[in-house]
Amino acid sequence: MLTPMMPVVANGLEASFTVHKIYEQSDPKAALDAVASRIRGLATLGNKVDTAFLERFPKLEIISNFGVGYDNVDVAACAARNVIVTNTPDVLSDEVADTALALLIMTARELSAAERWLRDGKWQTQGAYRLSASLRGRTLGIFGLGRIGKAIAARAEAFGLEIHYYGRNRQEAVAYPYHDTLVGMAKACDILLIVAPGGAGTHHAVNAEVLSALGSDGLLINVGRGSTVDENALIHALDKGIIHGAGLDVFEDEPNVPARLMEFDTVSLLPHVASASVYTRDAMGQLVVDNLTNWFQTGKAVTPVPETPQRG
Ligand code: NAP
Ligand code: 8YV
Repeated sequence: MLTPMMPVVANGLEASFTVHKIYEQSDPKAALDAVASRIRGLATLGNKVDTAFLERFPKLEIISNFGVGYDNVDVAACAARNVIVTNTPDVLSDEVADTALALLIMTARELSAAERWLRDGKWQTQGAYRLSASLRGRTLGIFGLGRIGKAIAARAEAFGLEIHYYGRNRQEAVAYPYHDTLVGMAKACDILLIVAPGGAGTHHAVNAEVLSALGSDGLLINVGRGSTVDENALIHALDKGIIHGAGLDVFEDEPNVPARLMEFDTVSLLPHVASASVYTRDAMGQLVVDNLTNWFQTGKAVTPVPETPQRG
């Protein structure tokens, strides 16, 4: 373990393995150098994994990543070395979908700003908070209709939203209208919700052109990865009224959030908490452990990512 992780992970791993908690050592680099040549499995939490990193671990067989997103891991470099990578899908989908809907409602109805109004005593001194935008009559475009995207769509249907989606592939079993370009979907919708993976394939996909297509009533909700949005273009679009508002759980340079974003009442900001309940994080942690124990006991991980080997 390179980074502190939840007790369910640390205790679960210690029940089956010799665990080297590198972060506990006074000189973590020297501690890692001392054991790296013997390490067969890694539990990672956002650690950057690239070729230079992998070269330190000649006996490495598996990287068990805490999180469904693994844009921090160079999976091609792992596959080239026959290192399997696992993630934590499904167990967090409902939690993240709940948070996405909460963030959407917070943003449309300006609930963060309305609460600040109350807490600042303005209700008493200045009267009622102003009227907000609404979800009524809205069209929601989902960028990334995967496991979490579908859980979001199920909830959004119950709120009466019309749903469209964009991805690299049309999904035959899905009846929602499909768009083969992001800008095309942004034109057809007035809410754009991102729940696609980060990485090179989606970097700054939401740019000035897409925001302009979303339009002046438009809301951008991002529970995917911050790298997918050009944050400077977003600030410009909010500033000039090119879009109406944004709800963001993820940012380009976490934990640093541009101060300008905090000035808009039509912007709701969360510190990357979409999956962060005790219940769901425990389930994710257990899956990190189960992937490692299954791999070393049976030669088959529970949830390997598609880009790296599926079994030993
Ligand atoms: P998933 O089931 O793999 O779904 C990903 C979706 O994104 C698929 O529909 C895929 O469709 C689409 N996609 C992938 N690459 C794309 C590209 N380059 N361009 C356009 N669409 C693309 O994954 P998931 O379990 O739903 O998780 C999705 C992401 O949510 C994670 O990777 C992670 O980054 C993020 N997440 C964030 C939090 C949080 O705390 N905020 C929590 C959990 C997950 P196609 O293959 O058809 O393109
Ligand atoms: C986690 C996430 O918060 O699963 C993901 O991809 O972004 C979140 O659930 C993160 O991975 C670890 O802090």
